[in-house]
Amino acid sequence: AAIGKGNYRHFMEKELHEHPAVIGDTLRQYVDPASRAVARPALPFDPATLPRLWLSGCGSAFLVGQTARYWFESLARLPTDCDVASELRYRNPPLTEGGAAMFVSQSGETADNLAAMKLLRAGGQSLVSIVNVPESSMARESDATLMTVAGPEISVASTKAFTAQLSVMACLAINFARARGAIDAAEEARLTAALLEVPEHAARILDVTDEIEAVAADILDARDVLYLARGSLFPIAMEGALKLKEISYIHAEGYAAGEMKHGPIALIDSKVPVIALCPSGPLFEKTASNLQEAAARGGRIIAFTDEDGAVALRRFASRVVVLPKVDPFVAPILHTIPVQMLAYYVAVLKGTDVDQPRNLAKAVTVE
Ligand code: G6P
Repeated sequence: AAIGKGNYRHFMEKELHEHPAVIGDTLRQYVDPASRAVARPALPFDPATLPRLWLSGCGSAFLVGQTARYWFESLARLPTDCDVASELRYRNPPLTEGGAAMFVSQSGETADNLAAMKLLRAGGQSLVSIVNVPESSMARESDATLMTVAGPEISVASTKAFTAQLSVMACLAINFARARGAIDAAEEARLTAALLEVPEHAARILDVTDEIEAVAADILDARDVLYLARGSLFPIAMEGALKLKEISYIHAEGYAAGEMKHGPIALIDSKVPVIALCPSGPLFEKTASNLQEAAARGGRIIAFTDEDGAVALRRFASRVVVLPKVDPFVAPILHTIPVQMLAYYVAVLKGTDVDQPRNLAKAVTVE
């Protein structure tokens, strides 16, 4: 049957509202809620002894790989590389014997992924794809396929597939960490519990849209927007910037907050909004101090944080959006939702063709 928009204005809005359901459905494929343990995924390699992992994808799917890299390295102590497939396919990198690669894709049809997969296979790597379409070309090209349970995604700009992909990666990170002896059963249960709470928090963020709509009105006339974050939230800053570019045609860049002083700070004045993903946690003080530097140069800071971070940020930020406080491990999944919503509302205010942005395609099957 044809898929409709229901009561939503655009497919993108409908799909944004499916975040809680698809995160929940995807987690249920990988986690046993009773034991709070991640089920052993069917993989062509043993995560306990894997020497090195490659992650790749294109567009938003690549940013899922970037986020997962933080998780696999810091939590599972697994050496991990991540590159866009269009570079990986021509890079001729040295490959570790017994290594593996995981490719992330909503469609499973992206040409650059397929080419990079062939290169890595020829180099002896085992291949896993994380896709939303079971019968896709990438699934066929892989030794194993892990499914996202996002349902069909119609909007060209990816939303719910992205959080479903992050959910799979988070489960793998926990499972690999356990297999490699980097965390114990209690830590696994704690992280899994934090993951299982994400759908509920996501629903709460989607319920209250007025604040994010107000931010959208704030940045509507900007020519450039800077997104800053650190650690596993840095790729989410890039996702926010990518989404804004894709559907509102405002130039945006996602930057590691600590790198701002090496370039982007030159751009900052009252006309360049700075969107910060800055929840409380180990990197809070560092990011907050970068934001303060931007504010001191006249930058308009719009911060997404939690209750604990809000007090300090309100001293200099022009807007502080308070999100539920979650374990730093799951913060990237949760922060994806408001930055995607923000791009959506800016596009709606601008009156762009939200679901079919100019020059972009849903699946890029040619090089
Ligand atoms: C296109 C879409 C993006 C998507 C990318 C990768 O550029 O517009 O939203 O992230 O392709 O697509 P895939 O199907 O491989 O996830």
